[in-house]
Amino acid sequence: MTTAAIHPNLIAGEAPALSPFVLTSLADLDKQHELGQFLTPNPVAEFMASLFEIHRSEVHLLDAGAGAGALSAALIGRLCREPRKPKQISITAYEIDAAQIEPLRARLDGCRRECERAGISFSATVLNEDFIAAAVPMVRGDLFASASPRFNTAIINPPYRKIRSDSSFRLLLRSAGIEASNLYAGFVALITRLLDKGGELVAITPRSFCNGPYFKPFREDFLEAMSLRRLHVFESRSAAFSGDAVLQENIIFHAVKGAPKPEQVTISNSSGASGSPVSERQAEYREVVSPDDAEQFIHLVEGDTQDSARAIMSGLSASLPKLGLSVSTGRVVDFRAKEFLRQQPERDTAPLIYPCHFNGGFVHWPNEKARKPNAIVSNEQTRELLVPAGVYVLVKRFTAKEERKRIVACIYDSHQIHAPLVGFENHLNYFHVNGHGLTMTLAKGLAAFLNSTVVDVYFRQFNGHTQVNATDLRSLNYPTKAELEKLGRRIADPGMQQDEIDVLVEEELF
Ligand SMILES: C[S@@+](CC[C@H](N)C(=O)[O-])C[C@H]1O[C@@H](n2cnc3c(N)ncnc32)[C@H](O)[C@@H]1O
Repeated sequence: MTTAAIHPNLIAGEAPALSPFVLTSLADLDKQHELGQFLTPNPVAEFMASLFEIHRSEVHLLDAGAGAGALSAALIGRLCREPRKPKQISITAYEIDAAQIEPLRARLDGCRRECERAGISFSATVLNEDFIAAAVPMVRGDLFASASPRFNTAIINPPYRKIRSDSSFRLLLRSAGIEASNLYAGFVALITRLLDKGGELVAITPRSFCNGPYFKPFREDFLEAMSLRRLHVFESRSAAFSGDAVLQENIIFHAVKGAPKPEQVTISNSSGASGSPVSERQAEYREVVSPDDAEQFIHLVEGDTQDSARAIMSGLSASLPKLGLSVSTGRVVDFRAKEFLRQQPERDTAPLIYPCHFNGGFVHWPNEKARKPNAIVSNEQTRELLVPAGVYVLVKRFTAKEERKRIVACIYDSHQIHAPLVGFENHLNYFHVNGHGLTMTLAKGLAAFLNSTVVDVYFRQFNGHTQVNATDLRSLNYPTKAELEKLGRRIADPGMQQDEIDVLVEEELF
């Protein structure tokens, strides 16, 4: 029997028995994945409920993707315990999975009794429907759409699943002017439209929207419509991610519709373990979302270390174009070039570089023990995939959850690896000068800078997953060329320790 469907991104140490979803078969697991069906543990639901700020005498609550109703129940419980209670609560809960409707109704019946005891009038509408299909016509204002109910409060843990650009969800959302690459973004975007002005939203979602390149339209739309008041992250990936294949960190946010942008945003964090203390601080709104940033990244400035990393990075004056550098994603997608891959170098092959060739700051090739192929046939058909010999700075696109650093940079040096061409596999980003190599001094300085703790700390403020995209690397500020070269001259050849790199970077750059 598989375990209960506690959200793998959430709190460790939760008793699975809290969940009414006990999955018993592979079909259940498929359904769980298909519907993004992961429940919010009660302590997280209660924390989320505590974030609403505005007192209302009438609460019109929307819970989209309600599951068994944990979030609504937590909020209603809080409202019933308040000294200044609302007079009326109405809730509309959408849930697509028929199997959840019974437990959802039972939970809301419990809420009704609680409200009765507290003297609050209560009504609940449970809709066993697809929220996107139901909400899009309301947002579009279609003639025959059921009259759009008014909501001033929404609490959600929406389903997380990528939606392909040709999927029906994507097209439906697009018809309402919403560009969303993941179900959760579609849910949030619809809710921001369904909320009344002044309405509050508290949501738990993956952190990917904070900087993911595909989420740019979503970020723009969301930040325009909503005033972001609070961001909460779980510190420890291991505590917060009890599950397996989940590479995302989660974030909880609170935002108010149509209100002016606040001066400050509350940023808080907790370990992710049940009952762990929450530490919080105020950050300037412009530190969280910079008015000059075309990408509208959302930065999680979490503490003094993060503050100083951010200050250092924003003090750097160069950008990649100023340095005459570009960063691209490795062109060899191995499964598409299968017929050209060779386990070991042969006469007409070029080196093929994967992350497994990273070794103490420099590429070590060939790697005889690696399961990955070491070479790619070099001919007319693969010419476009290869780059000329030279010195390149490579950065892993994916790091393992347990890896200490998010940005891992390494130098490819064709003086060590004698080959006229080289292939960089798609799991790498590579820095280049118009498709050609850098000088060794600049490459050493750049790699040391990228490998420094300051860059890592800064980077984590806007990147909550284990992926390092070329867009992320393009968005960074960099030291000047002279500064990087000065640093590069001080970098000893192989295998410098992290402490040594940090000391040199600090001495030369900050
Ligand atoms: C991440 S779970 C969260 C459940 C619940 N809100 C909680 O916090 O425990 C998302 C829920 O959305 C439901 N869901 C998935 N797609 C949906 C859709 N298109 N419309 C409505 N509900 C959907 C799933 O069945 C699942 O119960």
